[in-house]
Amino acid sequence: MKPISIDLELPINSYSIHIDQSWEGLNKAIKPFIGHKAMVVTDENVDELFSRDIDFILKSIGSQVTLAVVKPGEDSKSLKTAESLYTQALKNGLDRSSAIIALGGGVVGDLAGFIAATYMRGINYVQIPTTLLAQVDSSVGGKVAVNHPLAKNIIGSFYQPKSVYINIDTLKSLPDRQFSTGMAELIKYGFIWDSEFLIWLQKNIDRIMERQEEALAYAIGCCCRTKAHIVSQDEREKGLRTILNFGHTIGHGLESLTNYKLYTHGEAVALGMVYESSIAYQMGLVDRSMLDLLIWFLEKANLPTEIHGVDTESLMRAMAHDKKNKDDSIVFVLPVGTGKVDVFNNLDIKLVHEVFKESPKNYSIDN
Ligand SMILES: NC(=O)c1ccc[n+]([C@@H]2O[C@H](COP(=O)([O-])OP(=O)(O)OC[C@H]3O[C@@H](n4cnc5c(N)ncnc54)[C@H](O)[C@@H]3O)[C@@H](O)[C@H]2O)c1
Ligand SMILES: [Zn+2]
Repeated sequence: MKPISIDLELPINSYSIHIDQSWEGLNKAIKPFIGHKAMVVTDENVDELFSRDIDFILKSIGSQVTLAVVKPGEDSKSLKTAESLYTQALKNGLDRSSAIIALGGGVVGDLAGFIAATYMRGINYVQIPTTLLAQVDSSVGGKVAVNHPLAKNIIGSFYQPKSVYINIDTLKSLPDRQFSTGMAELIKYGFIWDSEFLIWLQKNIDRIMERQEEALAYAIGCCCRTKAHIVSQDEREKGLRTILNFGHTIGHGLESLTNYKLYTHGEAVALGMVYESSIAYQMGLVDRSMLDLLIWFLEKANLPTEIHGVDTESLMRAMAHDKKNKDDSIVFVLPVGTGKVDVFNNLDIKLVHEVFKESPKNYSIDN
């Protein structure tokens, strides 16, 4: 494949997203932003797979490298882990001209970005995402955070990386379930913004699921381009950026209700997209073919499309705690066509209750 480069334009702190199928272009993509000292933040799984490659490249840049390895999993996105990383940074003499390198999935990306945003009031960082979810979503856009025991992603900032380097070859080792979780966000971009991409994806989803590089590079490029465009219009989620939350009102509610144990983020978002589209269908905003197409994509990606055994009252309460909510009303992003969504603040709560009574698959065309 030919390397792809996408610019994310901002009033200050514009940066580029590089997509390639090797580490060949990494040196050039990050060298200007790495000082004489850098700390690579990664998790144990990713460390084993890729740290050696990265270390080698950083040394060739002339940077003194410290490796900080955290436990894999959401629990590492905590103030406690953050504190141990500050300690490591201090002990290794990282100063304001040093850099942080986030190597891994969204957990490591959010955590390392948070460290970079706060250490000495902010130092450079670059993202090297290695999960599909991180490559199409979390590494781009500058949302950095750690969790509080009472709420996810609640301590954070908007802090943009200096560069994003995506090596799609890293996806080869990604477990199937993690690959599918990234597919939920990838499919989301088609439904919120890019109907042309959806048409392409309909023809190519099998190639994507087989992880064929050309197809993956094209799809990841489309997603990053869309995200870059949206973030450049609305960096701090005051308006347009909210549409990236399609599927997330119900998705976050489901994740929180099940203590982040039952579903991966993408699985919860997949279910959220189905049930939020079902609300839109009940409101007459979309026809059944939109819902059918969404379910078709999600099933192709081995994602769940039906919620079983969830208490609707508790789910509604969990959704009411979402941090996108304003003035006590639950914010929903609903489809208003295929490839187009809108933000709704005051939905009829009865209608939301209703959609959980029956599987949306029961009123799809095929049934
Ligand atoms: N900042 C944002 O805009 C944003 C957006 C979406 C999600 N997120 C956050 O992202 C996090 C989820 O990220 P995730 O889904 O990438 O999970 P993750 O970072 O936990 O990675 C999933 C698993 O895959 C492993 N892994 C990573 N790369 C691998 C590879 N190439 N081969 C084999 N195994 C590999 C990891 O060790 C981990 O066990 C959540 O905390 C979520 O809040 C942030
Ligand atoms: Zn998401």
